[in-house]
Amino acid sequence: MYLGLDLGTSGLRALLTDAEGQVIGATEAAYPVAHPHPGWSEQDPQDWVEAAEACVATLRRAYSGQMAALRGIGLSGQMHGAVLVDDSGAVLRPAILWNDTRPHAEAAALDAQPEVRQLSGNIVFPGFTAPKLLWLERHEPEIFAKVHKVLLPKDYLRYWLTGNYVGDMSDAAGTTWLDVGARDWSDSLLAAGHMRREQMPDLVEGSASSGNLRPALAQDWGIAGSVVVAGGGGDNAVAACGVGCLREGEGFVSLGTSGVLLAARDRFAPMPETAVHSFCHAVPARWYQMGVMLAATDCLNWLSARLGQTPATLAGALPDVISGPSEVTFLPYLSGERTPHNDSAVRGAFLGLDIASDNRQLTQAVMEGVSFGLRDSLEALSATGADLHHVLAIGGGNKSRHWVELLATVLDLPLHLPAAGEFGAALGAVRLAMAADGVAAPEDLITAPEIAETVAPRAELQAAYEARYQQYRALYPAITGALS
Ligand code: XUL
Repeated sequence: MYLGLDLGTSGLRALLTDAEGQVIGATEAAYPVAHPHPGWSEQDPQDWVEAAEACVATLRRAYSGQMAALRGIGLSGQMHGAVLVDDSGAVLRPAILWNDTRPHAEAAALDAQPEVRQLSGNIVFPGFTAPKLLWLERHEPEIFAKVHKVLLPKDYLRYWLTGNYVGDMSDAAGTTWLDVGARDWSDSLLAAGHMRREQMPDLVEGSASSGNLRPALAQDWGIAGSVVVAGGGGDNAVAACGVGCLREGEGFVSLGTSGVLLAARDRFAPMPETAVHSFCHAVPARWYQMGVMLAATDCLNWLSARLGQTPATLAGALPDVISGPSEVTFLPYLSGERTPHNDSAVRGAFLGLDIASDNRQLTQAVMEGVSFGLRDSLEALSATGADLHHVLAIGGGNKSRHWVELLATVLDLPLHLPAAGEFGAALGAVRLAMAADGVAAPEDLITAPEIAETVAPRAELQAAYEARYQQYRALYPAITGALS
């Protein structure tokens, strides 16, 4: 039996499978995010531990025999967050999360230093880990002085599970302290971030062992044998393991709260100027690249809150079949943007509103704006040499047939829709646990899900959407000029 724990931003998902990866059961526990000041985003790491305890208790109640036979645990986690612990392992302050933008000045200063982009392979986005510690040094120096280790969120959970300070390559790649090509902490990057190597956890590959479940916990959970805890990885790397995106040419598009277009890479081919993220994959000698848009279905959530109708109602009012671009254009920068603009200050817009514009047109415009944003990511990924001929489509936005057909047409890529079932980061985490336990090589475990349907681009509408995309592209420079 194997357990995947996916430590998300709003909750923890636990998935229990047998040694063939067949699902036995799953459960979730939620926790809050605190925003004590504008731009701040924090969580109490103790809440993650309590969520994990609650999930394990639920699974033990339902599947006590199977839980007693647990052999391995895999971890997936929200990336970039800083959990600061002192020399007794105690947490020094609330964790500062990936969507916390307070250190934007520190991020810009670090990003401007020679070698930082070259060694880390990435722009220093304000959400990354290194600028958080530079902010702490300036604003909370008494805490900064006590930092014994900096752990990423899932690595704090691992510390609770195993007692070991260990991180994995894929998550470490999002700190700006890792030499992402060499897969090791970089002393130059650590120095640029005013940190020391001994403040970092040891590193393992995501599919390798990071230690065993502590005997006291194993006893509490009714487990007699030893349980390996795999390195695991950052959520997108592990989600890629869940949907079989491992080799060159394999990719996925995720229409979630944020939007992601990810391509697996056989080599490290960074191109930070595109604002594409280039990170280690969760298995050895592989990398992945992704474009990230900060608000994808979140744009529809925003519209839904404003119009007082659920996202499903708004989406359901559109025909399944697309018929050409809306007269209204939406710029989806409600939370700023990462790819391709690296602009945390830009904000969204509607253009072309008419006295007759109705909810349907606004909804269509929002879906188009998000799709154009993902097309920007595809262009950026292509510039790095990633060559995608089709992608898996995952995330809640895929429930709208209109949106899926629109996205396939705007990207000019066939979208593969997985059949119902488990294929997310929790499954990826299970697969890494199985690899760490020696069940099979990661390449044999990380396979694509059954495809229910392939949605092809609508060739006859492509020219019209292409023309609208080119207009969309011209708007970002126009609005930033107008607002600055
Ligand atoms: C990736 C990123 C998000 C977080 C939260 O760069 O910021 O995917 O990991 O999910």
